Amino acid sequence: MDNSLKAAFLLNQNWIAEKKAVVFGVFEGEEIPCGLGFKKETAEKEAETLFPIFLRIKKHFAHKDFSGKFGEVAVLYPDDTLYKRVILCGLGKKEELDLDKIRQVASAAIAAAEKLHVHKISFTLFGAPAQSAQERLRAIFEGAALSLYKFDAYKTKPKDEIIPKAVISEVEFLLPEIIPEEEIVQWQKNLDGYVVLAEAVYFARNLTNQPASVMTPRFFAETADALGKNYQNVAYTVFKKKELAEMGMNGVLAVGGGSDNEPHMVVLEYKSIVDDAPTVALVGKGVCFDSGGISIKPSDNMDEMKMDMAGAATVMAIVLTAAKLALPVNVVGIMPLVENLPGPKAYRPGDIIKSASGKTIEVLNTDAEGRIILADALHYAVSQFKPVHVIDLATLTGAAVVALGSHYAALLSNDNALAAMLSKSGETTGEKVWRLPLDEAYKKQIESDIADVKNIGDRGAGTITAGMFLKEFIGDHQSWAHIDIAGTAMLSEKFSYRPKGGSGFGVRLLVDFLERLAKPSQNTLFEELAQ
Ligand code: BES
Ligand code: ZN
Ligand code: ZN
Repeated sequence: MDNSLKAAFLLNQNWIAEKKAVVFGVFEGEEIPCGLGFKKETAEKEAETLFPIFLRIKKHFAHKDFSGKFGEVAVLYPDDTLYKRVILCGLGKKEELDLDKIRQVASAAIAAAEKLHVHKISFTLFGAPAQSAQERLRAIFEGAALSLYKFDAYKTKPKDEIIPKAVISEVEFLLPEIIPEEEIVQWQKNLDGYVVLAEAVYFARNLTNQPASVMTPRFFAETADALGKNYQNVAYTVFKKKELAEMGMNGVLAVGGGSDNEPHMVVLEYKSIVDDAPTVALVGKGVCFDSGGISIKPSDNMDEMKMDMAGAATVMAIVLTAAKLALPVNVVGIMPLVENLPGPKAYRPGDIIKSASGKTIEVLNTDAEGRIILADALHYAVSQFKPVHVIDLATLTGAAVVALGSHYAALLSNDNALAAMLSKSGETTGEKVWRLPLDEAYKKQIESDIADVKNIGDRGAGTITAGMFLKEFIGDHQSWAHIDIAGTAMLSEKFSYRPKGGSGFGVRLLVDFLERLAKPSQNTLFEELAQ
């Protein structure tokens, strides 16, 4: 699996060199592109290069072919400058342009460039006054890099198109000239960090998109082992069937029992060099294929259930990224991996499972399998490590897709401060979360007549009752969050920089969260709420 970005990303302050395609951003009704920032001395020379372009932009506005509305894209060919093509992007209203809109504009520019014959694209740092040049660079980078992702490992020949799509091999960022030269080193360092993060998203997407015939629990575990070895400060442990039985992980064993691809549980531990670093435990649902089991799913769209291990893929990506970026936080990733199939050894509706925590689960639907494996994994997380926070990521319920669609993940938490922090990270990264209540009133829906708890809730509030179920297995832990990524981690259509298929949702959200945790002094919101 090649997780590297397909294009080179470079910084450049030289505006006057020949450029194949330059992206400018224009606000609604403004006519002049924003984010250029020249030094006074060179402004005249730049003006010479740019003036003909500005005139053409004006003409577009005059002819009402372009108005700067958000999402508009026009391509200009100004033959009287060094710029072969200009991709003009509408930014919409100045007061409405946020970081995610910047990502989307960059993505639209990439889509336009791919239709042209360009291999190299230059972005100016467009944005609103409230966004620093650094924030703009990051957002434009993310929009561009995440749009260039392709899962084409299984394509034996290129698409037969009349005009073949260009392969963009170089993305350049035109930095404002006013940035002093000595600061460029820091800019480059930051850019390198963004590349690491984008590669982590590619990695999670690649794992998620692999067919279940390849991405078996064992293959996932071997991948984690091979990659974990690249880091001195990452420890890898795998529990196979025998060990899982010894540990009483009967939930993982029951769900994985129907498949010849035996269940595994992988634990990756990144230990920071900082002595008193806090530990965060991340748990990811790793159902490598969810057929529903004996309570089998309808065949329509069942193929999508190869992506039911997106939570585990995201967790692996995050732990390895924390190690790569040497974050001053210890991160434990716990990934229970199973294949949910019907068969002579499959678990059945009516079965009662004694989970690792000792609590008994009445199985009323074998398709509600994620919560059963998470029950064991969450118990393991809180009992084996001393995590300050426990966060699980899971493509857990169809109800989350019904409630929030593809643009927000559902967040359930017993800790207001943790929920607030995750929401903040969601706004920053564009991987947004929406909190649902974990009210005790819902508990009744998962009460079983013959066991401690049943694995489906009575009618209604499916995402919440799944959360209430998980809460049964965190013991008395006071800071846990459950993120249901069923609607966001796997997409049935492309949304801007998030492609069809695995999206890698959660990687940027949680790396941002870990970075915030590492800098508590800058995190006044958290401190206020933690009081
Ligand atoms: N993996 C599914 C949830 C899912 C559905 C993810 C659609 C992504 C898209 C999960 O295991 C499941 O089947 N959940 C059931 C639970 C029900 C039986 C209580 C569901 O949501 O229908
Ligand atoms: Zn299921
Ligand atoms: Zn599932």
